[in-house]
Amino acid sequence: MKLIIDDAHIDQIKKIYEFYPVDGVTTNPSILAKSGKQPYEVLKEIRAFIGENAQLHVQVVAKTAEGMIEDAHRIAAELGRNTYVKIPSVPEGFKAMMALHEEGLQITATAIYTPMQAFLAGKAGASYAAPYINRIDNMGYNGIQVAQKIHNIFKNNGLKTEVLAASFKNSQQLLELCEYGIGASTVSPDVIDALVKNQAITAAIDGFTADFEKLAGEGKTMSNC
Ligand code: G3P
Repeated sequence: MKLIIDDAHIDQIKKIYEFYPVDGVTTNPSILAKSGKQPYEVLKEIRAFIGENAQLHVQVVAKTAEGMIEDAHRIAAELGRNTYVKIPSVPEGFKAMMALHEEGLQITATAIYTPMQAFLAGKAGASYAAPYINRIDNMGYNGIQVAQKIHNIFKNNGLKTEVLAASFKNSQQLLELCEYGIGASTVSPDVIDALVKNQAITAAIDGFTADFEKLAGEGKTMSNC
Protein backbone atom coordinates (compact mmCIF):
# COMPACT_ATOMS: atom_id res chain seq x y z
CA MET A 1 0.00 0.00 0.00
CA LYS A 2 1.38 3.39 -0.96
CA LEU A 3 1.18 5.98 1.80
CA ILE A 4 0.43 9.51 0.64
CA ILE A 5 0.15 12.80 2.53
CA ASP A 6 -3.28 14.49 2.35
CA ASP A 7 -2.21 18.08 2.99
CA ALA A 8 -0.83 21.16 1.25
CA HIS A 9 1.10 22.87 4.06
CA ILE A 10 4.68 22.68 2.85
CA ASP A 11 6.11 22.67 6.40
CA GLN A 12 3.93 19.70 7.35
CA ILE A 13 4.86 17.88 4.15
CA LYS A 14 8.58 18.46 4.77
CA LYS A 15 8.26 17.18 8.34
CA ILE A 16 6.48 14.00 7.28
CA TYR A 17 9.01 13.40 4.47
CA GLU A 18 11.88 13.78 6.95
CA PHE A 19 10.63 11.04 9.26
CA TYR A 20 8.47 8.63 7.27
CA PRO A 21 8.65 6.67 4.00
CA VAL A 22 5.88 8.28 1.94
CA ASP A 23 5.01 8.24 -1.75
CA GLY A 24 3.62 11.66 -2.55
CA VAL A 25 0.93 14.23 -1.81
CA THR A 26 -2.79 14.53 -2.50
CA THR A 27 -4.76 17.74 -2.41
CA ASN A 28 -8.32 18.86 -3.00
CA PRO A 29 -9.77 22.38 -3.31
CA SER A 30 -10.52 22.57 0.44
CA ILE A 31 -6.98 21.46 1.32
CA LEU A 32 -5.56 24.09 -1.06
CA ALA A 33 -7.75 26.75 0.54
CA LYS A 34 -6.36 25.85 3.98
CA SER A 35 -2.79 26.43 2.72
CA GLY A 36 -3.60 30.15 2.39
CA LYS A 37 -1.62 30.40 -0.85
CA GLN A 38 -2.71 30.64 -4.49
CA PRO A 39 -3.29 27.17 -6.04
CA TYR A 40 -0.38 26.91 -8.48
CA GLU A 41 1.97 28.71 -6.10
CA VAL A 42 1.55 26.06 -3.40
CA LEU A 43 1.31 23.15 -5.84
CA LYS A 44 4.58 24.10 -7.55
CA GLU A 45 6.23 24.47 -4.17
CA ILE A 46 5.07 20.95 -3.27
CA ARG A 47 6.21 19.53 -6.62
CA ALA A 48 9.63 21.14 -6.30
CA PHE A 49 10.05 19.62 -2.84
CA ILE A 50 8.78 16.06 -3.51
CA GLY A 51 10.51 15.82 -6.91
CA GLU A 52 9.20 14.53 -10.21
CA ASN A 53 9.17 10.86 -9.18
CA ALA A 54 6.60 11.27 -6.41
CA GLN A 55 2.88 11.30 -6.99
CA LEU A 56 1.01 14.60 -6.79
CA HIS A 57 -2.80 14.45 -7.01
CA VAL A 58 -4.62 17.67 -7.91
CA GLN A 59 -8.37 18.11 -8.31
CA VAL A 60 -10.29 19.85 -11.07
CA VAL A 61 -12.86 22.42 -9.99
CA ALA A 62 -14.95 22.96 -13.16
CA LYS A 63 -18.40 21.36 -13.20
CA THR A 64 -18.74 20.39 -16.86
CA ALA A 65 -16.73 17.70 -18.65
CA GLU A 66 -15.32 20.32 -21.01
CA GLY A 67 -14.27 22.54 -18.11
CA MET A 68 -12.76 19.57 -16.23
CA ILE A 69 -10.72 18.70 -19.32
CA GLU A 70 -9.40 22.28 -19.51
CA ASP A 71 -8.56 22.22 -15.78
CA ALA A 72 -6.80 18.87 -16.29
CA HIS A 73 -4.68 20.18 -19.17
CA ARG A 74 -3.52 23.15 -17.08
CA ILE A 75 -2.80 20.94 -14.04
CA ALA A 76 -0.73 18.50 -16.13
CA ALA A 77 1.12 21.31 -17.94
CA GLU A 78 2.00 23.15 -14.72
CA LEU A 79 2.95 20.17 -12.55
CA GLY A 80 4.59 17.67 -14.87
CA ARG A 81 5.02 13.93 -14.70
CA ASN A 82 3.53 11.80 -11.95
CA THR A 83 0.70 14.27 -11.58
CA TYR A 84 -2.71 12.63 -11.20
CA VAL A 85 -5.74 14.70 -12.10
CA LYS A 86 -8.50 14.15 -9.55
CA ILE A 87 -11.94 14.11 -11.12
CA PRO A 88 -15.23 13.73 -9.24
CA SER A 89 -17.05 10.47 -10.01
CA VAL A 90 -20.22 11.99 -11.43
CA PRO A 91 -21.60 11.80 -14.99
CA GLU A 92 -19.68 14.88 -16.25
CA GLY A 93 -16.61 13.47 -14.54
CA PHE A 94 -16.84 10.06 -16.24
CA LYS A 95 -17.12 11.85 -19.59
CA ALA A 96 -13.97 13.85 -18.78
CA MET A 97 -12.16 10.73 -17.53
CA MET A 98 -12.76 8.85 -20.79
CA ALA A 99 -11.44 11.75 -22.88
CA LEU A 100 -8.42 12.38 -20.65
CA HIS A 101 -7.57 8.68 -20.46
CA GLU A 102 -7.61 8.61 -24.25
CA GLU A 103 -5.06 11.46 -24.20
CA GLY A 104 -2.85 9.51 -21.77
CA LEU A 105 -3.35 11.63 -18.64
CA GLN A 106 -3.31 9.86 -15.28
CA ILE A 107 -6.60 10.11 -13.41
CA THR A 108 -7.69 9.71 -9.81
CA ALA A 109 -11.46 9.35 -9.58
CA THR A 110 -12.59 11.10 -6.42
CA ALA A 111 -15.66 11.82 -4.25
CA ILE A 112 -16.46 8.10 -4.14
CA TYR A 113 -19.10 6.93 -1.68
CA THR A 114 -20.38 3.83 -3.51
CA PRO A 115 -18.68 0.83 -5.14
CA MET A 116 -20.46 1.34 -8.46
CA GLN A 117 -19.07 4.88 -8.79
CA ALA A 118 -15.63 3.29 -8.53
CA PHE A 119 -16.49 0.56 -11.04
CA LEU A 120 -17.56 3.17 -13.61
CA ALA A 121 -14.41 5.22 -12.92
CA GLY A 122 -12.28 2.11 -13.46
CA LYS A 123 -13.97 1.41 -16.77
CA ALA A 124 -13.53 5.06 -17.75
CA GLY A 125 -9.76 4.69 -17.36
CA ALA A 126 -8.95 6.00 -13.87
CA SER A 127 -5.64 4.81 -12.37
CA TYR A 128 -6.97 5.31 -8.85
CA ALA A 129 -10.41 5.51 -7.25
CA ALA A 130 -10.71 7.35 -3.96
CA PRO A 131 -13.44 6.25 -1.52
CA TYR A 132 -13.90 8.59 1.48
CA ILE A 133 -13.60 6.22 4.42
CA ASN A 134 -14.49 8.46 7.36
CA ARG A 135 -17.19 10.37 5.54
CA ILE A 136 -18.84 7.05 4.61
CA ASP A 137 -18.60 5.94 8.25
CA ASN A 138 -20.25 9.21 9.29
CA MET A 139 -23.20 8.43 7.01
CA GLY A 140 -23.81 5.24 8.99
CA TYR A 141 -22.20 2.89 6.46
CA ASN A 142 -18.86 1.08 6.69
CA GLY A 143 -16.10 2.91 4.80
CA ILE A 144 -13.60 0.07 5.18
CA GLN A 145 -16.02 -2.44 3.71
CA VAL A 146 -16.80 -0.10 0.82
CA ALA A 147 -13.06 0.24 0.04
CA GLN A 148 -12.54 -3.53 0.27
CA LYS A 149 -15.50 -4.15 -2.01
CA ILE A 150 -14.08 -1.68 -4.56
CA HIS A 151 -10.67 -3.41 -4.39
CA ASN A 152 -12.39 -6.77 -5.08
CA ILE A 153 -14.47 -5.34 -7.92
CA PHE A 154 -11.30 -4.09 -9.65
CA LYS A 155 -9.47 -7.41 -9.21
CA ASN A 156 -12.46 -9.57 -10.22
CA ASN A 157 -13.13 -7.54 -13.34
CA GLY A 158 -9.58 -7.33 -14.62
CA LEU A 159 -9.41 -3.55 -14.11
CA LYS A 160 -5.97 -2.09 -13.42
CA THR A 161 -7.44 0.68 -11.27
CA GLU A 162 -6.28 0.70 -7.63
CA VAL A 163 -8.05 1.96 -4.53
CA LEU A 164 -6.63 5.20 -3.12
CA ALA A 165 -8.50 5.40 0.16
CA ALA A 166 -9.01 8.91 1.55
CA SER A 167 -10.64 10.63 4.52
CA PHE A 168 -9.12 8.85 7.51
CA LYS A 169 -9.58 9.85 11.11
CA ASN A 170 -7.67 7.10 12.93
CA SER A 171 -4.99 4.40 12.74
CA GLN A 172 -7.47 1.51 12.88
CA GLN A 173 -9.10 2.54 9.59
CA LEU A 174 -5.66 2.63 7.95
CA LEU A 175 -4.51 -0.65 9.50
CA GLU A 176 -7.50 -2.55 8.14
CA LEU A 177 -6.87 -1.36 4.59
CA CYS A 178 -3.11 -1.92 4.83
CA GLU A 179 -3.78 -5.51 5.94
CA TYR A 180 -6.16 -5.95 3.02
CA GLY A 181 -3.48 -4.81 0.57
CA ILE A 182 -5.20 -1.95 -1.22
CA GLY A 183 -3.18 0.18 -3.65
CA ALA A 184 -2.78 3.39 -1.66
CA SER A 185 -4.08 5.47 1.23
CA THR A 186 -3.84 9.21 1.64
CA VAL A 187 -3.66 10.42 5.20
CA SER A 188 -3.32 13.75 7.01
CA PRO A 189 0.01 14.46 8.80
CA ASP A 190 -1.58 14.15 12.26
CA VAL A 191 -2.96 10.67 11.51
CA ILE A 192 0.44 9.58 10.09
CA ASP A 193 2.17 10.82 13.27
CA ALA A 194 -0.40 9.04 15.42
CA LEU A 195 0.49 5.69 13.83
CA VAL A 196 3.54 5.49 16.09
CA LYS A 197 2.50 7.71 19.01
CA ASN A 198 2.12 5.14 21.71
CA GLN A 199 3.13 5.21 25.37
CA ALA A 200 4.33 1.59 25.26
CA ILE A 201 6.77 2.38 22.44
CA THR A 202 8.13 5.47 24.22
CA ALA A 203 8.42 3.60 27.55
CA ALA A 204 10.35 0.73 25.93
CA ILE A 205 12.87 3.08 24.35
CA ASP A 206 13.23 5.17 27.56
CA GLY A 207 13.91 1.92 29.45
CA PHE A 208 16.72 0.94 27.06
CA THR A 209 18.30 4.39 27.37
CA ALA A 210 18.13 4.36 31.19
CA ASP A 211 19.71 0.88 31.41
CA PHE A 212 22.48 1.84 28.99
CA GLU A 213 23.28 5.05 30.85
CA LYS A 214 23.54 3.08 34.11
CA LEU A 215 26.14 0.94 32.38
CA ALA A 216 28.10 3.49 30.35
CA GLY A 217 27.29 6.87 31.90
CA GLU A 218 24.80 9.69 31.34
CA GLY A 219 24.49 10.90 27.76
CA LYS A 220 26.55 8.01 26.42
CA THR A 221 25.51 6.16 23.25
CA MET A 222 27.06 3.40 21.14
CA SER A 223 29.19 6.00 19.33
CA ASN A 224 30.85 7.61 22.35
CA CYS A 225 30.95 5.03 25.17
O1 G3P B 1 -9.78 14.46 -0.86
C1 G3P B 1 -10.69 13.77 -0.08
C2 G3P B 1 -10.26 13.58 1.33
O2 G3P B 1 -9.07 14.20 1.57
C3 G3P B 1 -11.32 14.02 2.29
O3 G3P B 1 -10.84 13.98 3.58
O4 G3P B 1 -10.86 14.50 5.98
O5 G3P B 1 -12.01 16.04 4.37
O6 G3P B 1 -12.97 13.81 4.87
P1 G3P B 1 -11.73 14.62 4.77
